[in-house]
Amino acid sequence: MKKIAVLVSGGGSNLQSIIDATESGYLRARIAVVLSNKEEAFGLTRARKHGIPAEVVRHGDFKDREAFENRLIAVLDGYSVDLVVLAGFMRVLTPLFVTHYHHRIMNIHPALLPSFPGTHAQKQALDYGVRFSGCTTHFVDEGTDTGPIILQSVVPVLPGDTEESLGARILKEEHRIYPESLRLWSEGRILIEGRNVMILPDKPAEA
Ligand code: GRF
Repeated sequence: MKKIAVLVSGGGSNLQSIIDATESGYLRARIAVVLSNKEEAFGLTRARKHGIPAEVVRHGDFKDREAFENRLIAVLDGYSVDLVVLAGFMRVLTPLFVTHYHHRIMNIHPALLPSFPGTHAQKQALDYGVRFSGCTTHFVDEGTDTGPIILQSVVPVLPGDTEESLGARILKEEHRIYPESLRLWSEGRILIEGRNVMILPDKPAEA
């Protein structure tokens, strides 16, 4: 079974959706480790509750990003992970980390990329006045939220929406498409060709 690491900085509701998907058998992969740059991240508590190893690598303990990332790599490679899953991990990753795990880092972003990359995507969407927003899963490259797109889901922006109400509507879809993207990956059904991600059809069930 493939092994994944989930990196979190906060509440970890996406982590929870991935844990639930592995426990129900929807996603046939093992979460080998949950890692956070913040020891107070609730995602770590979620991991421990489910018997998943939880590690903390505090970015403030390192002299620069490179030293921090070298430690991240050492910890993750110690668990021999096949894929690094970013789930609200609030640190920018440099080419050092991204090159080490080339095409093996997945992220979820709360907007329809390439619109509204970076932080406060829900607020950016509201401020711009779009009628629809949503979420995007993608592989991570050296830019900010610029890597090849795997899945997207669209939600309406409704009159009177706040960052919170729109964010909650988007989050519900995040909890659907992140496990789905991971399932496609775990089944070997994702092919990356330049910017484009091809999703291979499901194999017919054996008679
Ligand atoms: C989500 O909105 C995700 O799209 C973004 O960070 C947030 C993490 O939420 N990258 P949670 O910690 O998974 O609840």
